[in-house]
Amino acid sequence: MPNCDPPHAEVLAVEGLAKSFRMHHLDQTLHAFEGISFRLLAGEFLLLRGPNGVGKSTLLRTLYRSYLPDVGQIWFNHASGRIDLARAADVDIALLRRREIGFVTQFLVARPRVAAQDIVAEPLRRAGMAGDAALAEAQRWLAAFGVKRDLWRAYPTSFSGGEQQKVNLARALIQPPRLLLLDEPTASLDVGARAALVARLAELKAAGVALIGVFHHPGDVAALIDRDLMLSEKKVFDVAV
Ligand SMILES: Nc1ncnc2c1ncn2[C@@H]1O[C@H](COP(=O)(O)OP(=O)(O)OP(=O)(O)O)[C@@H](O)[C@H]1O
Ligand SMILES: [Mg+2]
Repeated sequence: MPNCDPPHAEVLAVEGLAKSFRMHHLDQTLHAFEGISFRLLAGEFLLLRGPNGVGKSTLLRTLYRSYLPDVGQIWFNHASGRIDLARAADVDIALLRRREIGFVTQFLVARPRVAAQDIVAEPLRRAGMAGDAALAEAQRWLAAFGVKRDLWRAYPTSFSGGEQQKVNLARALIQPPRLLLLDEPTASLDVGARAALVARLAELKAAGVALIGVFHHPGDVAALIDRDLMLSEKKVFDVAV
């Protein structure tokens, strides 16, 4: 597992992070979260908590740099140095997403005419594993998450929501990243797949992957959680004058 750090190495240091959305049509600003600071070490699991709409997904997307924060730093210790994800160039973010930062959401963005097993094998092939070995590993993970063998060569665009999520998880978890972000990954899963996911997360944590997640049923991962971060319900709307 080339990406993983020794225990207690700092992976992430978030300092004074805030994100707001400007809603031009209403002429107001919604503050999704403010003043978020925390550190995360290799092998630590941070649970994000709070009611609907409090900013949990927005915080994960900001850490993944799908959103730019308004202020604050996201220091990430990667394979060859330290980088502020809040200010990193898009090209560096794209590279880090390929190799070091994973993100699992409830939704698979299935590409047309790519078989499930190829979607899952792709991260391994990109990392240099031979085609046959990558395919065998992909099939092992599809089986582990309970995707029926008949579907391995089919296109996930026609799969059910739960089946798509299983393909999504197999792809995201086949190779350990340094930092893994999870946004309600169990939402559409059956009991067997939930158990497979929890087992895989335990393995990744033991291997030194740093994890931050939102879970609809946090009880599923209770044994893995080291700390939690409760997002505040306070929402300030600044109305322009
Ligand atoms: N792209 C956006 N533009 C404007 N407002 C947004 C955007 N994304 C999120 N918001 C707002 O930010 C707030 C936080 O949303 P977010 O999705 O982060 O909440 P959440 O804590 O993940 O909720 P849930 O538990 O329902 O998933 C909400 O009020 C939402 O309407
Ligand atoms: Mg959410």
